[in-house]
Amino acid sequence: MSARLSLRPYLPADAPVLAALFRASILDLTGEDYDEEQQEAWAAAADDEAAFAARLAGQLTLVALKDGAPAGFVALKDNTHIDLLYVHPDAAGAGVARALCDAAEALAKGRGAKAVTVDASDTALGFFQKRGYEAHRRNMVPLADTWLGNTAMKKKLGDNDAVPRH
Ligand SMILES: CC(C)(COP(=O)(O)OP(=O)(O)OC[C@H]1O[C@@H](n2cnc3c(N)ncnc32)[C@H](O)[C@@H]1OP(=O)(O)O)[C@@H](O)C(=O)NCCC(=O)NCCS
Repeated sequence: MSARLSLRPYLPADAPVLAALFRASILDLTGEDYDEEQQEAWAAAADDEAAFAARLAGQLTLVALKDGAPAGFVALKDNTHIDLLYVHPDAAGAGVARALCDAAEALAKGRGAKAVTVDASDTALGFFQKRGYEAHRRNMVPLADTWLGNTAMKKKLGDNDAVPRH
């Protein structure tokens, strides 16, 4: 039987669990695209838990639950930019990121956004391409003693998006 998926807004008590999920997601899911030094530098963004909690609380953050446990989260910045999208390795490939992005894009559109942007990791590039995001620019971000590559992408929110079809 497949586990049930639901979404809810972020709560302050989620911060430690989401910090651990963020780290596990990076270390387990991005190894084909980034080396260990890059993964560690990336995952360290959640080491200061108070700062990480403030980042989540300062954005529109949604948590996906599978059988009641956090399986992923998305954080939408300024109603237009996907700042964070992370899925727990145990829940990968089961539609968790799809559900989170469907909701984030619908909320952005409902609040008047004409487009949504993301700096997509190389791991997530294909996922966002599949959703209609177009690549605009390659970024090289300095982090600790290394560099992380990502791709600036943008999706226009058309008039027919998020409208139920009959
Ligand atoms: C990228 C990530 C968020 C995808 O999460 P996921 O829950 O496994 O993705 P889903 O199961 O919702 O996938 C939805 C669809 O996208 C496809 N997809 C997922 N990842 C893909 C990829 N890298 N390339 C191509 N297609 C992909 C799936 O096959 C699925 O297709 P379908 O609709 O035809 O069934 C997840 O791998 C992750 O957390 N990666 C590590 C952290 C990261 O890089 N975050 C992004 C920061 S910008």
